[in-house]
Amino acid sequence: MRVLLFTGKGGVGKSTVAAGTAALAAAAGHRTLVLSTDAAHSLSDAFDATVGSEPTEVADHLFVQQVDAQLRFEQSWAEIQGYLLAVLDVAGVDPIAAEELTVIPGAEEVLALLELRLQARSGRWDVIVVDCAPTAETLRLLAMPEALGWYMKRVLPLERRVVKTLKPVLSRAAGIPMPEDTVFDAVERLHSELDEVRALLSGPEASVRLVLTPENVVLAEARRSYTTLSLYGYRVDGVVANRVFPAEGADDWRAGWVMSQDAVLEQVDQSFAGLPVWRSVYRPAEPVGVQALAALAAEVYGESDPLAVPTGAGPFRVERTERGAVLHLALPNVSRADVDLARNGDELVVSVGSYRRLLTLPAVLAKYRTAGARVEQGELQVRFEEKVT
Ligand SMILES: Nc1ncnc2c1ncn2[C@@H]1O[C@H](COP(=O)(O)OP(=O)(O)O)[C@@H](O)[C@H]1O
Ligand SMILES: [Mg+2]
Repeated sequence: MRVLLFTGKGGVGKSTVAAGTAALAAAAGHRTLVLSTDAAHSLSDAFDATVGSEPTEVADHLFVQQVDAQLRFEQSWAEIQGYLLAVLDVAGVDPIAAEELTVIPGAEEVLALLELRLQARSGRWDVIVVDCAPTAETLRLLAMPEALGWYMKRVLPLERRVVKTLKPVLSRAAGIPMPEDTVFDAVERLHSELDEVRALLSGPEASVRLVLTPENVVLAEARRSYTTLSLYGYRVDGVVANRVFPAEGADDWRAGWVMSQDAVLEQVDQSFAGLPVWRSVYRPAEPVGVQALAALAAEVYGESDPLAVPTGAGPFRVERTERGAVLHLALPNVSRADVDLARNGDELVVSVGSYRRLLTLPAVLAKYRTAGARVEQGELQVRFEEKVT
């Protein structure tokens, strides 16, 4: 099953290109689902169809779904939220305010991704296309399961034990309700489900495509997401430059745009060297409906197969050397000075700007000391060597 994610700044054409790619896949006979996790749902507008929170058929082999994140939220968080509400109640917070406090920012999008897991497990689909939220949210949410994993491994077992021991004493003394085992179970279940989503998204049959328009501000953001997505181990396999003005028969105003877009497009090619950069012209009208969307996508991908599984090294690989090993991590568009590294036991903390990844090292690396690092050809290479005794 092929999983394709589309992300990019708001308004650049994510939904349009995602919907078009799905329409093209369905036309080729693949059982296709396109689902949107962006709270600003626009798939129903793109398809000009009524689309619900369950997969809705809009053409042969083509289903569309706009995830009702609020509903998922209520289902998954009921238990955890119940506990938090009880605690806040004891603390004297009024119930209405407490209700708001228990809503975690970004939680909706995360839970929308859980729907991806369900659909992937259903066996109903050959292709799932995900129309993601704009870049910043997507990146934050994609890192969640891994970050949570750290918490789950270190903190939760401890808390569970502490709570077990202290519960009888504390509940009586302070009147503070202690979480029941069911709360811990709910947290653990949620975590393992998110972990599955992460495995699915960073697996060999999944890839991310960046949608942009040829404007400097948009390009700058797309470059940053390319770096950050790579940092978190997601494979970017293409860029779609959308709303490119046609040069033919341009008046002065349009000729100006063509020139400035050309300059940015040249930078796009440089920024994503090695990746296909597909182009989509600015159409005279909004591409709406299955036919128009499929036509747009057919033009975008041209001769190339939109569903081709990416080949090549992948974002993460370990190479054995005489004295130890080298860890290769795809990290495009950065220099060594942008990257901070810290080693903590079997963990390697890689930071780029405000984004941080906690890499749990595979056993083959964990036994070595970190001997040095460099950035070369869009890759971070960390050298591991035998400990000197
Ligand atoms: N190549 C294009 N030519 C003309 N209009 C486009 C093109 N791509 C997108 N649009 C229109 O631009 C608007 C924003 O596109 P949309 O796909 O909803 O963006 P996003 O999902 O990134 O917010 C929509 O009205 C869409 O129909
Ligand atoms: Mg959209």
